[in-house]
This record gives sequence, C-alpha cells and structure tokens, in this order.
Amino acid sequence: MKKANVIDRIFHGGLPASPRNQKGLAFAPTNIALCKYWGKRDIELNLPVTSSLSIALPDKGTMTYLSLQDKATDTILVNDEEIALTTPFAERLVCYLDLFRPKKNWHLHIDIKINIPIAAGLASSASGFASLVAALNDLGAWSLTKQQLSILARLGSGSAARSFWMGFVEWNAGVQSDGMDSFAMPLDIEWPELRVGILTLSNKEKPISSREAMQRTVNSSVLYSAWPKKIAQDLAILKQAIHVKNFSLLAGTAESNALTMHATMLSSWPPICYSLPETLAAMRKVWELRHEGLEVYFTQDAGPNLKLLFLEKNQAELTEAFPDMEVISVFEG
Ligand code: PMV
Repeated sequence: MKKANVIDRIFHGGLPASPRNQKGLAFAPTNIALCKYWGKRDIELNLPVTSSLSIALPDKGTMTYLSLQDKATDTILVNDEEIALTTPFAERLVCYLDLFRPKKNWHLHIDIKINIPIAAGLASSASGFASLVAALNDLGAWSLTKQQLSILARLGSGSAARSFWMGFVEWNAGVQSDGMDSFAMPLDIEWPELRVGILTLSNKEKPISSREAMQRTVNSSVLYSAWPKKIAQDLAILKQAIHVKNFSLLAGTAESNALTMHATMLSSWPPICYSLPETLAAMRKVWELRHEGLEVYFTQDAGPNLKLLFLEKNQAELTEAFPDMEVISVFEG
C-alpha cells in the first residue's frame, strides 16, 4: 500500500481539483509521549508496532501559512528565513506536498513559524506535519475530521498523528494494512496541576533521524521483542494513573518507558545513543532530588534534551534547581 492509496481512501477516489481558498493557515501544538512510539509495522505508511500516549504542549508548536503561488517551485520559509529546496528538510516537505498537488505545476508559498528547536528531539516534526496538513485542509476547504487529518499527518511523521488535540492523546496502533484504523484520539481528562519543564541541553541537530534509528532498533536490537510487552503494561498503567490522578504512578511509568526505549536503542548495532554527558548529569540530578523527597521525573525523546514532569506545588523548588528550565502548564494554554 502506498501513501497515495491512503489519500484516495480519505477523498473517496481523488483529491478535489483545485483549492477553494487562496490561503490556508493552521497551528498545531507539539506533543511529548509519555508512552513512546518506537518501531513501525509499515515503513511507507508510518504504521506503528504499538499504540502510544502523549501530552500536548499548548503554546509550543508550529503555525503554517500557505498561499498559492505562480512559480515553478514551492518556496519554504522557516522563521522568516528561506530554506534551500535541496536541504533534507525541504525535500521531505516537498515530497509530502507532492501527495496533495492537484496538478504538477501547482506550487505553494509555505511560511512556517516554529517556536521549538528543529530536529533536537523536541518533536518539531510532529507539530510541523500536523500544522501543514491542517493548513492544507483550510486552503482546500476539505472539511476533513481531526481523525482523517491524524491519518494524513501520520504519513508525514508518525508522532504528528497525535498533534491535533490539547491534553492527553492516545494514538491507537490499529491492525489494518491500510492504516485507516491507526489514528489518535484525545482522552477527555484534565489535570491542571500538571507541569512539563523543558530542559534544553543542546540545540544541535540530532546525529541520526528517528526514522532511521527506529528501523535500526527494530532490525538489530535483541531487546526489541520485549518492547511491545512493555508498552502494553505502561499504557494500561498510564491510563489508570490519569484516571485516578496518581502523579508518581504517571510520571514514574513515563520515565521508565523512556529509559526502556533508550536502553533498547543502545543495544542496537551500530549503537544509538542520543544522550550527551549533560543529559546524564541532568538525569542524575533528577534522581537525587527524588531521593531527597521531591516528586520529579523525566522523559526523553530522540535527542539529548529532557522534559521534566512535576506538579504545580513543586514548581518553585524545581525552577530553583533548574534555572534554565522552561515551564509549561499543559492544561492552561
Ligand atoms: O514521529 P517521529 O518519526 O519523529 O518519531 C517520534 C519518536 C519519539 O519522539 C521518540 C517517540 C514519540 O512517541 O513521540
């Protein structure tokens, strides 16, 4: 099955001939997985081996402005800087847009405003593809549902499937080969005291993309066979912890899940290690603070940066311990 076949299914046979509007605009928040997506059952369609669960960061993400342009190519601006079409970033974007062009000579001016570092493990591709497809939906007046947008965004980047809602979001892995049952849905529970602290330890681009790292882990880590079991356990515990608002259960499970993902990567060959010495130092500091009785946990994605998890009542102590940390009130955006 190809990406184009999925688009046919969404549009029941074909894309609308031309967009209804001259411009399209959409914002999508980034999301941080508490139970990670790591490994695909279908590489072309970004279908995951397991389900996953995330939390949105309301003010962090991507705003995409699209307008039709009478030129032979697309133009891409990221935070007001024009990006060469030969860069891997632009190639990936243009290739994704190719799926939606009603005519070959149909080109766009794409103005992307993003307030998180790109490709540093802060899920920039999640908000990027979600906002792009939502802006296309606006441009074409397609009136697609969020469920349909989630399926389309997944074709660009798996974790983008979860970037259409605020709060807790679960992406159901699905079982179908066309992935029409592999989309995200929000969990209807708020937890206003919950905080995420972004600890940016490095803004450098990651040494290996999550796409490549995932494949290498699936193909070479002997530990990968334990991963689906770990996810099934953690997902059930996380949902229970959210339901009863048990913070240490929630955040402890999220930390354990992230550490298991990184341990599995480390056992791949060639090994994959996103952590820097600063990452390990910050982890040790979190463990020390916890040992002293402060309820703080972390999670880590495909990069060296950490996201701390804590409650509002401990915010003052934690901002003192980590003065550079950016605190996000996840339910008060
Ligand atoms: O969607 P991708 O290909 O950027 O992969 C995301 C992988 C993790 O961020 C590490 C985990 C996740 O579930 O977001």
